[in-house]
Amino acid sequence: MSQKNIALIGFMGSGKSVVSKKLAVILKREAISTDEWIERREGRSIPRIFEESGEPYFREQETRAVREVAGKESVVIDCGGGVVLDPRNIKELRKKGVIVFLAASPETVYQRVKDKEDRPLLKTADPQARIRQLMDQRKPFYALADYTVATDKKSVRQICEEIIRLLADE
Ligand code: S3P
Repeated sequence: MSQKNIALIGFMGSGKSVVSKKLAVILKREAISTDEWIERREGRSIPRIFEESGEPYFREQETRAVREVAGKESVVIDCGGGVVLDPRNIKELRKKGVIVFLAASPETVYQRVKDKEDRPLLKTADPQARIRQLMDQRKPFYALADYTVATDKKSVRQICEEIIRLLADE
């Protein structure tokens, strides 16, 4: 495997954070989360940024974070679920890296996020419907990835091994 960056994209709750951390340990690389990058710069949480400054402001900060993180060498990047919405982000991530889509079913996502308070976009009366709606809208964007790994019913280790196998010739 080359030293290209590995960018993980996918819907909220698809396992990007845990997989990126484990993958980084296995490959002896640094894992960087775009959400944490933004939170550190802003000194406030993602829900607070959405609440106080709105989604468009968050997206601007996200594009800035992607540009900075994608410029690094040999890192594993845990991208926020909406990173794919801005074509500039995809372009930046591809410059020095490969993009891997972690796919999860709406049911899996719901089970993983239902007891958490940190996803402002899912704070609605019917989060399951919202998950399905957003996933449908984003399908064509996630399809821009270089590789796709299905994550339903797989362990974090299995997913990491699959990614490593897929990227063997990169
Ligand atoms: C978002 C996903 C979140 C976070 C923000 C918006 C999205 O990241 O960036 O709440 O638009 O899908 P995770 O995918 O890590 O939950």
